[in-house]
Amino acid sequence: MVSITFIEPSGTPRTVEATPGTSLMEAATTNSVAGIIAECGGNCACGTCRVFISGAAKALVAEPGDMEAAMLEFLDDAGADLRLSCQVEVTEAMEGLEVTVSPEQR
Ligand code: FES
Repeated sequence: MVSITFIEPSGTPRTVEATPGTSLMEAATTNSVAGIIAECGGNCACGTCRVFISGAAKALVAEPGDMEAAMLEFLDDAGADLRLSCQVEVTEAMEGLEVTVSPEQR
């Protein structure tokens, strides 16, 4: 298991245990992290699983694929650090990763 900390929209940090090979979204929803809605269930279609991954943490996650990049372009809070958590696969290298849940999920 890999420890991942989600900073919820209220500012509260929530550290959860995630299984490598699953997504950050699955780790969040399984552990009832506030702010991750995931309406489409991880199909890269709703944009309600947004997180910001910044600084050195970015080096621990793969670049967005074409579908994710296309979806990100249409979101109000789009920027270099914004990701769809359903498209970010958890790896062992992410131990201690901290991500911030976007307050904008609609
Ligand atoms: S859960 Fe719908 S885009 Fe991530």
